[in-house]
Amino acid sequence: MKSPLQLLLFVFCAHLMAQSDYNKFTPGELWLDNNEVHINAHGGGFLFHDEIYYWFGEHKVGGESGNKAMVGVHAYSSKDLYNWKDEGIALKMLADTLSLLQIASVVERPKVIYNKKTQKFVMWFHHELKDQGYKAALTGVTVSDHVTGPYVYINSFRIHPNVFPLNFSEEQFLNAEIIENREDENWKQKVIDGSYFKRDFETGQMSRDMTLFVDDDEIAYHITASEENHTLLISKLSDDYLSLSNEYIRVFPGGRNEAPAIFKKDGKYYMFSSGLTGWKPNPGKLSVSDSMFGNWTFLGNPCKGTDEENNTTFWSQSTYVLPVVGKKDAFIFMADRWLPENHIDGRYIWLPVEFENGIPILKWVDSWDLSFFDN
Ligand code: GAL
Repeated sequence: MKSPLQLLLFVFCAHLMAQSDYNKFTPGELWLDNNEVHINAHGGGFLFHDEIYYWFGEHKVGGESGNKAMVGVHAYSSKDLYNWKDEGIALKMLADTLSLLQIASVVERPKVIYNKKTQKFVMWFHHELKDQGYKAALTGVTVSDHVTGPYVYINSFRIHPNVFPLNFSEEQFLNAEIIENREDENWKQKVIDGSYFKRDFETGQMSRDMTLFVDDDEIAYHITASEENHTLLISKLSDDYLSLSNEYIRVFPGGRNEAPAIFKKDGKYYMFSSGLTGWKPNPGKLSVSDSMFGNWTFLGNPCKGTDEENNTTFWSQSTYVLPVVGKKDAFIFMADRWLPENHIDGRYIWLPVEFENGIPILKWVDSWDLSFFDN
C-alpha cells in the first residue's frame, strides 16, 4: 500500500515523463506542444520578439472539413525552437455571417510582423471567401497590441487596383491581350505579356500564397502569387504595415511560383518557392536578387537529395525561412508536408539551409539541432 505522498510523487513523475522535452528537430515526425498535442500551425510564419520565438499557423480541424478555417490562426511560443507552448488562437474566425472572415472561409499562410513605430503586431494572410473555392484570391490584414493576439480583423482585398507596377509600362499594358482560353497556342506568352494583369487591373490583382519580409531598414514587403498563380507580385507595405503602398513589381511573369519564403544573407535576397500542384509536393525553386525590387534570377532547385526528394522538396512545400538569432548564417528552411485527407495531422519539415559555393542548398537530415550551425 502506497502512502498518499508516494502516490502524489508517482503522479508527478509520470506527468514529467510524459511531457515532451525536445532537444532536436526530427522533420516529418509528430511534434507535441506543452499539452502533448501535435502542433497545429500549418503554413506557418515566425516572429522573434523580446527574446521569444512565436509560431503562427493555420489551425486545421480533423477529417473531411478539409481546409476550411473553422477556428482561426493558432499561436505558439518558444525560447529554444524545440519546445513550443500553446498560446491559443491569435485570430479567431468570426461567427458573424456578414463578415468576410466568417467561419469556414479559408485562411492560409498567416504571417506576423512587428511595427516598431506603432508598436503593433500586424498579421497578413491569404483569404478565400466561404463557399467560393479559391476564386476570391484576397489578402487579409489584422492588427493587435499583443503578440499572441487577439488580432482585430481590418479587411481583405484584391491588390493594387488601377496601379501600374514599377516594372511594367503603360505601353506594355496597352499591348497586352486579355485572353481566358488556355487552348490558345500563345497563351503562356500572353500571360507573360500581361493578359491576366490587364484583366484584373481595375478590380485589383489576385493574391494567393503569400509571405511578408521585413528588411533591415524596417521596410516591409508583401510577396504574393498573383495572375492565376503565374506571376509573383512584390509590394512595399505602408509605414504602419497595415496596407500596401503603391510601389510594387511583377516577378517571374508566367513563372508559376507559389509558397514564397524570403531571407537575406550578405546583402542578397533569396527566395524559396514551389511550383503549382495544390497540396501535392513538387520540385523546390530558389531565386536571388540584389534588392527586393531588383532583378530576380532563378537559381534552380535547391534540394540536393535523391531524385524523389528533389522532385518533391523532401515531400513538402516551403512556408518560411527563419534566421536563428545569435548564430551567424544560420537559417532554417520551414515547410509543410500537407495531409489533405486529414490536415490536422500534417507534418512540419525543418531543415538547415546549407551553403555550397555561397549558394543556399537543402539536404535531408533525419534529426538535427542548432549546433549544426556551429560547424
Ligand atoms: C497550395 C498552396 C496552399 C494551398 C493549396 C490548396 O499550392 O501552397 O497554401 O492553397 O495549394 O490547394
